[in-house]
Amino acid sequence: MSLAQPRESSPSALPPRTTAHTLQLKKQSGIPITALTAYDYPTARLVDEAGIDVILVGDSLAMAVLGYDNTLPVTVDEMLHHARAVSRAARSAFLVGDMPYGSYHSSIEQATQNAVRFIKEAGMAAVKIEGGANRADLVEHLTSSEIPVVGHIGLTPQSLHRMGGYRVQGKTVSAMKTLLSDALALQAAGAVAIVLEGMPRELAASITRGLTIPTIGIGAGPDCDGQILVFHDLFNLAFSPAAKFVRRYGDAAALFRQGISRYREDVSRRTYPRDDESYHLPREAAETSSRHEAELVKA
Ligand code: KIV
Repeated sequence: MSLAQPRESSPSALPPRTTAHTLQLKKQSGIPITALTAYDYPTARLVDEAGIDVILVGDSLAMAVLGYDNTLPVTVDEMLHHARAVSRAARSAFLVGDMPYGSYHSSIEQATQNAVRFIKEAGMAAVKIEGGANRADLVEHLTSSEIPVVGHIGLTPQSLHRMGGYRVQGKTVSAMKTLLSDALALQAAGAVAIVLEGMPRELAASITRGLTIPTIGIGAGPDCDGQILVFHDLFNLAFSPAAKFVRRYGDAAALFRQGISRYREDVSRRTYPRDDESYHLPREAAETSSRHEAELVKA
């Protein structure tokens, strides 16, 4: 920003903060839950001000904003850096911080310490953890430590190497049964919601029907209690081919490219900045300064 502009004054009547309870009520009333990722202040403000229920500071930021090939390298410190920016921006959304690969895999103690950082240092209201029944003990422990947990089953990107690539999960009867029991185990352990990613629509529908907590789908069809997408996928900012389930709502890349090349042209042709985009000396100082300049030129 140039000479610091103060933040636009916030509306006096803030919308009420979305909580896990709000999401639960939405499920019960059949009102779809809206969710998006955000990783920084400006996008979080836009998402929050648009009335999206849930902002996930997803570990997808590893690819979307840090340029890694997958989610595995991103660290807790990197996640917290982005999560803090998001929580400075968001006034009403339910904020979920994604626990990155390696931050909850060693022990319940390690996971709790890292989860507490998301709440205390980054202002998140919940953490998200990938995995099913194998994470039930952890979810129970975090929940009893006052840390709401969102589960994540199906295509879990942190299991990239085990899955042998990003593949739709739950396509056989036994895989369906496993995912259904994973969902029930997470619910029993106290999860407040579950992300269902990359699975057949029919399976997501039956998991959604079988749970009392909300499901939030991504590549899991329209019958989940809510939907989530990656912000950069919506606006063509992902620099990679879009998955089947991604719907594009704008082309920010085209907008930015056009603006950047116009700026480059304007600077190159000296048509930016114009006089009315420049600061001026007060009249008296201007006269003195032009006298001094004339003297300097003569000297
Ligand atoms: O990291 C992420 O963005 C996610 C969503 C895809 C659910 O986990």
